[in-house]
Amino acid sequence: MTKPVITPNLGTLSQFRAPSMTATIMVCTHYRYAINQPSCGKRGGEALLLSLREAATGTDVAVEASCCFGRCTEGAVVRIAPGGTFYHGVIVDDAPNIVRAAKLFAAAIDVVE
Ligand code: FES
Repeated sequence: MTKPVITPNLGTLSQFRAPSMTATIMVCTHYRYAINQPSCGKRGGEALLLSLREAATGTDVAVEASCCFGRCTEGAVVRIAPGGTFYHGVIVDDAPNIVRAAKLFAAAIDVVE
């Protein structure tokens, strides 16, 4: 006699999905310490991270520090995730516009899904 297989009720995917999609702003704060190697850390990545977090306060946009994106000569580099746009040469004053773009990106993903 074989043992019965008990399958847990895993529900449907929509039961486990967040009610609305959120975006994450990934901010490169990586330092390359060699004098002749540019990096986002040297170009204000950490200050940018703080200003983006402040601009995103009260929204459903997350802001995370990230390691190098491999675009060090174009820093400071920011990416909207999942799968969103890269922004290069970002400065602190760009924070409100980046957060606005992340909110629009999240809303667009919600419409598509
Ligand atoms: S240090 Fe930021 S992309 Fe490389």
